[in-house]
Amino acid sequence: MKISRRHLLAMSGATAAIIASAKLQAAEKAAAATGLKEAYKDDFLIGAALSASIINKQDPKLVAIINKDFNSITPENCMKWGEMRNEDGSWKWGDADAFVAFGSKHNLHMVGHTLGWHSQIPDSVFKNKDGSYISKAELEKKQKEHITTIVGRYKGKLAAWDVVNEAVGDDGKMRDSHWYKIMGDDFLVNAFNLAHEVDPNAHLMYNDYNNERPDKRQATLDMLKRLQKRNTPIHGLGMQAHIGLETNIQDFEDSILAYSALGLKVHLTELDIDVLPSVWNLPVAEISTRFEYKPERDPYIKGLPKEVEEKLAKAYESLFKILVKHRDKVDRVTFWGVSDDASWLNDFPIKGRTNYPLLFDRQQQPKPAYFRLLDLKR
Ligand code: GLA
Repeated sequence: MKISRRHLLAMSGATAAIIASAKLQAAEKAAAATGLKEAYKDDFLIGAALSASIINKQDPKLVAIINKDFNSITPENCMKWGEMRNEDGSWKWGDADAFVAFGSKHNLHMVGHTLGWHSQIPDSVFKNKDGSYISKAELEKKQKEHITTIVGRYKGKLAAWDVVNEAVGDDGKMRDSHWYKIMGDDFLVNAFNLAHEVDPNAHLMYNDYNNERPDKRQATLDMLKRLQKRNTPIHGLGMQAHIGLETNIQDFEDSILAYSALGLKVHLTELDIDVLPSVWNLPVAEISTRFEYKPERDPYIKGLPKEVEEKLAKAYESLFKILVKHRDKVDRVTFWGVSDDASWLNDFPIKGRTNYPLLFDRQQQPKPAYFRLLDLKR
């Protein structure tokens, strides 16, 4: 067979591409041998939220990823009021104990989540049978029993606590929650004091979504200053960082500076980047919000297009550049989950979509965004 010059050239091009891709794969393998926690060990902790199902199944592949890439864990749900208490107030310790046993066994930094939140808590905590509110004294008693029991049980094992979650509303005012309506700022002040009295070594944080944005940041700073005036033992500020491809990443730098100027350590506590079309102009992470499923709102069922994959990697890269630049102020960056298949964003704010917000894909393989973050440190 006669081989033309053009054919030969095309073949050598193809060979070069194969060699280049093999080289790239080798480089990625070498980088992957390191793992994220090792790459960022001089910067901050790298965390993951773990579901009760991950803890209970102990799938060897996932356990291996957790041990290689992460040095901090947060329970995704199992330490919330509604998960820990029966209707009659008795305790359900199974999943939370298993979480702490897992973290202790693997020598991981552990964050408790969360002691005071308006969500995933039954109304009966706040209301009498006739629907009226219980008194402030009664709620204070419940709060004290809850916080001292759970913080006491895990004292010395959990290094940090998200003490209060999402007390600032999306309108820049304090959220009109049952907690706040009955107790006002004492809801927060008491929560921090109680946790601190029981475990003086625990690092105590306030945690919220969208608080990197200028308006909510200002409202949060005002609240933090009020708490500090009352000598509240608050040590850290959590930015959940449930963000999207369109998020203004620069807001994070401004916020890190503003929060740390109050003497607080900064944490990214629930990081993920939503790549699906946004269905709202409303603020994002309020957990009660739901929208209707439509096929055009779920465009990547068959896979993520290359250009979106690249946008995702770029967004993670720009964010981490800022975090590394301010590593003296940032203690920890925790992802809200390990791999895309189990992310809450497949069901929020629309049930049953296919989302790609994390660093590991649906087969628990590292994605381009993962390698981009390793590359940043090479
Ligand atoms: C909030 C809470 C988390 C979790 C997420 C959604 O951000 O802090 O515990 O419920 O919503 O998964």
